[in-house]
Amino acid sequence: MTAPSTGLFISFEGIDGAGKSTHIAGLANAFKAQGRTVTLTREPGGTPLAEKLRALVLGDAMDPLTESLLVFAARRDHLVTVIEPALARGEVVLCDRFTDATFAYQGGGRGFDLDTLSTLERWVQGVPALADGAVRQPDLTIWFDLPAATAAARLADARAPDRFEAQPVAFFEHVIAGYAARAAAQPQRFARINADQPREQVWRGVVQALTQRGWLAALAQGGAA
Ligand code: TMP
Repeated sequence: MTAPSTGLFISFEGIDGAGKSTHIAGLANAFKAQGRTVTLTREPGGTPLAEKLRALVLGDAMDPLTESLLVFAARRDHLVTVIEPALARGEVVLCDRFTDATFAYQGGGRGFDLDTLSTLERWVQGVPALADGAVRQPDLTIWFDLPAATAAARLADARAPDRFEAQPVAFFEHVIAGYAARAAAQPQRFARINADQPREQVWRGVVQALTQRGWLAALAQGGAA
């Protein structure tokens, strides 16, 4: 299999405590080892302006529309200044969360209006590189699915929680339902990984999602995570 020469946009999703980080770092190493240039980034954040908005969203009390507008404002800046240029250069963009997080957290968790989120999604993710009316979406979204109670137990000893991590288990059950609805609506874009397994097994699932699409060559036994 030859590595694709066009850009590849992969997002990673899941509730807080689902354990995305080590696998994202592992995939970045795996792609680099196969000669690809990797842009490793995150949302909210990924640019100086979006990181400022991230600090507000994670730290300051606000109503759900304000919260949604801020995450989409951060996304617009991130998309036009980091993600689109990297894709145009043919890079692999690994993004820790993208718009599915907004539908899951603001839509599912906060119960905010999904039609308004869809409108914002069309405004923010319409980019010149795409035909009129098309909306930038990840080529693949890896969803680390973990029961809310399990994630809560994992986070119990963590550092001081932010505004989302401090939410009760019931909030995260709604977030999971939000992810499930997005995955059901766009099943070809999603790879759901059962994150309630030993790390090595989760890693195998992550790698398989990429290799079966022909986007990553098979890794040496043991992998990178
Ligand atoms: P992180 O800690 O995984 O980087 O994510 C930051 C938090 O922001 C996480 O609790 C999820 C939340 N979030 C939203 O509520 N809406 C969004 O659109 C994004 C991208 C993240």
